[in-house]
Amino acid sequence: MKSVLFSRFFILLPWILIVIIMLDVDTRRPAPSLTPRPYFSPYVAGRGGARLPLRRGSPDSGPGRGAQKRNQSGPQPPPQPEPPLPTIYAITPTYSRPVQKAELTRLANTFRQVAQLHWILVEDAAARSELVSRFLARAGLPSTHLHVPTPRRYKRPGLPRATEQRNAGLAWLRQRHQHQRAQPGVLFFADDDNTYSLELFQEMRTTRKVSVWPVGLVGGRRYERPLVENGKVVGWYTGWRADRPFAIDMAGFAVSLQVILSNPKAVFKRHGSQPGMQESDFLKQITTVEELEPKANNCTKVLVWHTRTEKVNLANEPKYHLDTVKIEV
Ligand code: UGA
Ligand code: MN
Repeated sequence: MKSVLFSRFFILLPWILIVIIMLDVDTRRPAPSLTPRPYFSPYVAGRGGARLPLRRGSPDSGPGRGAQKRNQSGPQPPPQPEPPLPTIYAITPTYSRPVQKAELTRLANTFRQVAQLHWILVEDAAARSELVSRFLARAGLPSTHLHVPTPRRYKRPGLPRATEQRNAGLAWLRQRHQHQRAQPGVLFFADDDNTYSLELFQEMRTTRKVSVWPVGLVGGRRYERPLVENGKVVGWYTGWRADRPFAIDMAGFAVSLQVILSNPKAVFKRHGSQPGMQESDFLKQITTVEELEPKANNCTKVLVWHTRTEKVNLANEPKYHLDTVKIEV
């Protein structure tokens, strides 16, 4: 009898040990990584802009996501198919000047951190410049490089800027989505000298038709903003031409791709357009004030700044090339 019990015990012993070891290992699983992640890190950028877009509702991406999966024990519910992340199309007019590459560098450094962003860079030039072509090739961003020159007669102080370039961007967008059912997308006009927070892109991504938000350092004030009551825009806080139907800067709104496609004639107009009225003239064609979607906590947060770069002092620049090397700046 005793020997039977002994033999049973020795047969069971290894199994008991295995169960104990497994339970022990399970409780010692690594804690979630404490490695700091970029605040709004929407993807992990790889060479040439390879990226894992952040899925809505998931605070993690890239390595974090995998680690999270391993940490969960027990059977997993089947993953829900998530709707695709709307692409943000940023149309940037740009022109040749000493600070151009610096401006584009700042912009690319921001855009590179935004998931699913397509940069439409439109040069105000008769041809694509080598500087911008080289720059874009190395920017690590999905992009489209267009060009259209502003007719000379419109290159005067007091006249609106970048009309032709923004229209070229709109035309490209409409052409690209001509035949296919439009993928979800959001259009935003991103001048090359402004400053954009990453949070701004999270806000605009959910634009259903036309969304609006405050802009800092514009209109002769610290900021301009849409005034919101009960979730609706009811007026404008502005210090400049309050009579504008949409008293908002170009950096203060985004439009869904669907709205752009269903209003194929909506463009920026030269005829009769004054500086400062371009935004209103465009928005009038596609929406109404009542329809606007306020973003940035009911338009109480500044997430974009209308910064302007000082003209550089080149007083000591030699007339003829003196240096032994030629350097792109
Ligand atoms: C303000 C608005 O914020 C602009 O959106 C608007 O286009 C402009 O006024 C206007 O007057 O039309 P502001 O800072 O005065 O902006 O203008 P810029 O930043 O000098 O130009 C706006 C954009 O157009 C920039 O991306 C700039 O690179 C581009 N641009 C400017 C050109 O493509 N060609 C030009 O000759 C000048
Ligand atoms: Mn500007």
